[in-house]
Amino acid sequence: MLKPIQIKLVLLGEAAVGKSSLVLRFVNNDYQENKEPTIGAAFLTQKCKVQDKIIKFEIWDTAGQERFHSLAPMYYRNAQAAIVVYDITNSDSFDRAKSWVKELQRQATNEIVVALAGNKCDLHDSRQVESEVASSYSSEKGLLFLETSAKENENVNHLFKEIAKKLPLE
Ligand code: GTP
Ligand code: MG
Repeated sequence: MLKPIQIKLVLLGEAAVGKSSLVLRFVNNDYQENKEPTIGAAFLTQKCKVQDKIIKFEIWDTAGQERFHSLAPMYYRNAQAAIVVYDITNSDSFDRAKSWVKELQRQATNEIVVALAGNKCDLHDSRQVESEVASSYSSEKGLLFLETSAKENENVNHLFKEIAKKLPLE
């Protein structure tokens, strides 16, 4: 048996964008219509196979409510990967995502792999953030970018796989 490579990953983003829902989908392939807000942070793990390697993601799902902002550095410090989430139907959440990216690029480790996830892409009729805008912002900042739906299980596994592929795994 291969020994799994442990990767610390943190999720950041405004309240109610779907961070916990993405994690619940990735870890348990489950979805809850009325997920309760996270208090502080939650810790979960999930394994994932990439090429000939087994990755064990150690996931810190942080709370998006502003009163928890000061806790975030505890979770992104030493993280090898981060997923910054916004809600495609909420342009304020995209602005908040950009400020998280700025904070990460200033304060996290240099080699951190950062992905931007535009979640709730099933709600395309209420879209406020165009894909092209988020996509060109991401290329400019060197981020992975995907639109996801935790609800309809779109791009969720793919997101973690793409992150794993970008990790320096030795
Ligand atoms: P905090 O823990 O407060 O930071 O929120 P969060 O980012 O963890 O959001 P959470 O996963 O709790 O989801 C908030 C609400 O959005 C819940 O009612 C979810 O059911 C809903 N939701 C999450 N993902 C999706 C999605 O992909 N599509 C739709 N339509 N709703 C979603
Ligand atoms: Mg949550």
